Amino acid sequence: MKRIWAVLVVLSMLFACSNELNDSFTTPAIEKEIDRLLSQMTLEEKVGQMTQVDIRYIKKPEDVIKYGFGSILSGGGATPTPNTPEAWADLYDSLQTLALRTRLGIPIIYGIDAVHGHNNVKGAVIFPHNIGMGATRNPDLVKKACEITAVEVAATGIDWTFGPCVAVTRDERWGRTYESFGESPDLVSEMAKAEVEGFQGTSLDDPLSIVACAKHFIGDGGTTGGVDQGNTEVDEETLRKIHLPGYISAIKAGVGTIMASYSSWNGIKCHGNKYLITTLLKGELGFEGFVVSDWAAIDQLPGDYRSDIKTAINAGIDMVMVPDKYEEFISNLIDLVEKGDVSQSRIDDAVRRILRVKFKLGLFENPFSNRDLLPKIGCEEHRMIARQCVRESLVLLKNKNNILPLPKNLKRIHVSGKNADDIGNQCGGWTITWQGSSGNITDGTTILQGIKKAVSSETKVTYSFDGSGAEGADVAIAVLGERPYAEMKGDRQDLSLDSDDLRTLENLRKANVPTVVILITGRPLIITEQLDSMDALLVAWLPGTEGDGIADVLFGDFSPKGKLPVSWPRDMSQIPINIGDANYDPLFPYGFGLTY
Ligand code: GLC
Repeated sequence: MKRIWAVLVVLSMLFACSNELNDSFTTPAIEKEIDRLLSQMTLEEKVGQMTQVDIRYIKKPEDVIKYGFGSILSGGGATPTPNTPEAWADLYDSLQTLALRTRLGIPIIYGIDAVHGHNNVKGAVIFPHNIGMGATRNPDLVKKACEITAVEVAATGIDWTFGPCVAVTRDERWGRTYESFGESPDLVSEMAKAEVEGFQGTSLDDPLSIVACAKHFIGDGGTTGGVDQGNTEVDEETLRKIHLPGYISAIKAGVGTIMASYSSWNGIKCHGNKYLITTLLKGELGFEGFVVSDWAAIDQLPGDYRSDIKTAINAGIDMVMVPDKYEEFISNLIDLVEKGDVSQSRIDDAVRRILRVKFKLGLFENPFSNRDLLPKIGCEEHRMIARQCVRESLVLLKNKNNILPLPKNLKRIHVSGKNADDIGNQCGGWTITWQGSSGNITDGTTILQGIKKAVSSETKVTYSFDGSGAEGADVAIAVLGERPYAEMKGDRQDLSLDSDDLRTLENLRKANVPTVVILITGRPLIITEQLDSMDALLVAWLPGTEGDGIADVLFGDFSPKGKLPVSWPRDMSQIPINIGDANYDPLFPYGFGLTY
């Protein structure tokens, strides 16, 4: 009897261990639910679940019922009018009401790019973009920022963010450098875990959780020349070493979705690469969520649209961000299955994965927005955390004669530069609209406003766009850098300061006033020739709405602690330049950052 008992104990330990090792994304109960639903679904209903449509392209509301879309998204700037949290919740609930009127009442999953806060929504708190979050080296803080973003997104009903971007940026000419946490796979992995856990919480069906999306699989940050949607020309060992760790980390953290990359690996479009999506991601790494395409990305595959669909679905894409011509997509995919060009088992696998995420999210039990959360959007508590993120993202590259921190009771401070008093510029792309824009686009505090609030009443703060009028000031603060852009619109072959900034610096040089330069930028800029004219240089990346965070460091309430997440090149000829390169000789190395 004792022997049998001992065997049973060993077997139960083995079983527990194997379960622990697998730590599956799903449960037997969910799979049973999916089996039941799948067995009732028609081919049309299954293909509908694989279809994601942008809100702007739904021809008539009835189409949500007729085609049974699995998902609806708001691409950058696809906002309700008025752009208020309540209007977002109304939009979401109206679409969900239609979805529940389909034959089987399968709820939609609504996706959006909440990539630095709920950034499409006016009044939401906007966090620093990922490159600044990478500079914090503080995964706990980054996780907290994503928990807050999840609350603000959930308040509007939306279930799914297309983030974190786990690109490893290897060439600063890339317009999406700022969406990456940096050039180091280790840093990206650490932040990927933090963001997935922050967005998804401990349980996806928690009302404060949303499902995350690790993107863009794979190698989007490694294209030759930093060309957006270009070609990543590396061997498999390098691809795995540099660009895969972020996905391994995200999958271990339980990420529910992964987005394929527009880019190619050695000439093969990722969206059509069965080895990458099915063999590597789903097979070797055991990813059990679903793979979504990027925006109309399958249209870039070689061949006509029908063959694009066949290639992408057979490669392992589970949901297609069409996002417009949904009738054509649906009719073609149905025909492909009926003609045997796409197997029924592939369709069932895709739909199983989609339903798995929907069940995990608790969408069937709680399909509507949680309006009790609406007052949380843009609240002071959230803004204080974002302000801490700003502070900790700042990287001090130069501080001659310890000019920083500045006293709060100077007689006069002259602030200048195109980015000193512009909330749109300090937020960057993916803010209210796809590309972002200059101007007073949302609620927040500009850098100039933060400086004015920080100094004593006897200090006079003056401002000019171009640095004129600085003569006689105790110190000049010039806020320079980039204007907003997103994706391929940000690809640049020359990262020098623009003419506005050079004019500002020249005017300040003539005024012969100690000068503190702050860079609002999505990436390192070429400032080698101007460095001598700067007494201090502080990189603020794209800090978002809480400009106070910069004043907190300028005046010494907090010391700068940020570290470069990317190498800072001396000139364009050094790019690409990354830590570990032979003859590595940047202006400032990866990990550099001064403090007080
Ligand atoms: C864009 C981006 C992707 C984004 C998607 C939806 O083209 O490549 O990052 O999530 O479309 O807006």
